[in-house]
Amino acid sequence: MKLTPLAAVTLLGILLDSSLAHEHDGMMDMDAGALDTPSADLTSVTPMPWPEHKHGVPILETKLTPSQQLYWNSYNTTTYFTLNSDYQSYLTWHLVSLTISAFFLYPFVLIFNNLQSNLFIPVLSVQAGLSVLSCISYSIFITNVPDLYPGMAYSKMVTGLFVLTLLQFTFALLNSLSRWTNAHKISGLFSSIPSEDPEDGFALDDIHSPAATLYDGDSDIERSSLNNNNKISKLINGGDLIFNKLSQIPLLSHFLNSFHFLIIILFNASTWGLFLYYLALFPTMIACLNLLGDGIKVFNLLAHFIKGGVFFSLGLLSLARYCGAFERMGGSWNYSFVSTKEKSNLGLFLRLQKPGSCITSFEMLESSLILFYGCTNVFLEHLSNPGGEWAAKDLQHVSIAFMYFGTGLCGVITELKLSNWRKSLFYANVDNELLPENDDKLCVTPGFSPNIFPVFTIFWTGLLMSKHAQPTQLSTDIHVQWGSLLTYGSFFRVFTFIWLSYAPTKGKDLFAPGKPLTELVTSFCLLCGGLVFMESTDQFIEALAYRGFTPMFTINVSVGIISLLMAWIISVFAIKDILKVKLQN
Ligand SMILES: *[C@@H]1O[C@H](CO)[C@@H](O)[C@H](O)[C@H]1NC(C)=O
Repeated sequence: MKLTPLAAVTLLGILLDSSLAHEHDGMMDMDAGALDTPSADLTSVTPMPWPEHKHGVPILETKLTPSQQLYWNSYNTTTYFTLNSDYQSYLTWHLVSLTISAFFLYPFVLIFNNLQSNLFIPVLSVQAGLSVLSCISYSIFITNVPDLYPGMAYSKMVTGLFVLTLLQFTFALLNSLSRWTNAHKISGLFSSIPSEDPEDGFALDDIHSPAATLYDGDSDIERSSLNNNNKISKLINGGDLIFNKLSQIPLLSHFLNSFHFLIIILFNASTWGLFLYYLALFPTMIACLNLLGDGIKVFNLLAHFIKGGVFFSLGLLSLARYCGAFERMGGSWNYSFVSTKEKSNLGLFLRLQKPGSCITSFEMLESSLILFYGCTNVFLEHLSNPGGEWAAKDLQHVSIAFMYFGTGLCGVITELKLSNWRKSLFYANVDNELLPENDDKLCVTPGFSPNIFPVFTIFWTGLLMSKHAQPTQLSTDIHVQWGSLLTYGSFFRVFTFIWLSYAPTKGKDLFAPGKPLTELVTSFCLLCGGLVFMESTDQFIEALAYRGFTPMFTINVSVGIISLLMAWIISVFAIKDILKVKLQN
């Protein structure tokens, strides 16, 4: 089967068209009505080709029952964004600086860290500084305006951001310093020059401490990247000077030496922790500053934001995989292998792989997570109803948890069963001369396994949850939108499996990211589906209805936002690839 880009796009177009075509039906009705109008005195009429085309009617202009009238008359559109306060500019500065810092700069912090570039600390300093200013600006704003939302989660999260930013910055400095001293120690040994200062606390004998031997290989890489970096940036020579001074402080160098391993862990945990924190911070900001989720409404908000957020994050993950992330473990739809020799230099995940086996696939990770979620949720749903009678609704909720349990277990077993298949696919397609000689402990992967259970779960989740009865047509339509997006996304993941099973790639190209075009559609559907899922929160729907927006509004705006977001993410990865090539030459 050959899947051309055109076929994929056309297919998606047909699918989207069939479910999103409501708007046009309305227009047709109006046209039909216009034809029936009896001809009037034409002198007083302005010529117009079509009857006035409205994008929906605000709810107060429609026919309402008295109870609805009461509710909507007292609907208050005031939020933190629309306050008429002198301090509004502090909020604007907070939003702008946080967006620049988290959305535009932090990806580069991650890139420079990944490439072990000397630019890492300078860029991180700007990024962290901007974050801190942003937090201060927010605290000035929030203490000077009326408290519209007592106990708001966002204010707490900004405090958390302040602390986490400072912690991460400290760990990053310590990590760079400890890496610098290690690299210099080793380079001193290699060029058989004794270290610059006999009193700097690092005798050359330290090289033979267990920690140093464990990271021998690492330091080797660091040494070469340090040399490389000197080419790209002469800017940082001052940094060397500072590091040199710092490493001569006996207490500090002793601390770095003893806690080298701990510092690496804390640094990595806080760096990726901060990334995840941003992912949670922005939705919280949008919800809280718009005064969503007060009182009992918080449950509906959380249900939509968390589940939508999971799909959105899955979309981010699959776009990153398409762009070449996780290449080492075959996560970028590419072939990969890890030899016994390389293993000690790699991350924890690859180090834990059983010698001679298949590298754990993404399908295995996904299935295990689904299984874990399924088992815990069966228990949780049971706990929430101890000794109570089983209502039909309880059964309905538990049955979804059972589905996760079932599909997760199916996925894990399928993955175990497919392990030999993946191994033979790998050896069938890879020439022996590309592999290291005499290594029977090689861990290999063809980069995918045709295991549909993870996407099967997404498919049914999308379908079942979007069929949940809704009080209004608007709400129903929006639920159908994300339900459809998620189900289409899962189809395209299946096409990826089919495409890769018969991919014409051979030779060395197998080890480069596979770039199956169907994954772009999957990523788009997951990202957009997740976003629309979040927008189907009750209070969000009310806000749309109050202003008379139609379901087309959510899908149009979401498609636009997600396209821009995808463009930014793809650019970030493209810039990373360019920098990587520059650093290696
Ligand atoms: C809406 O809420 C704000 C803040 O609580 C209040 O100042 C304003 O008067 C309210 N507006 C209406 C029309 O009730």
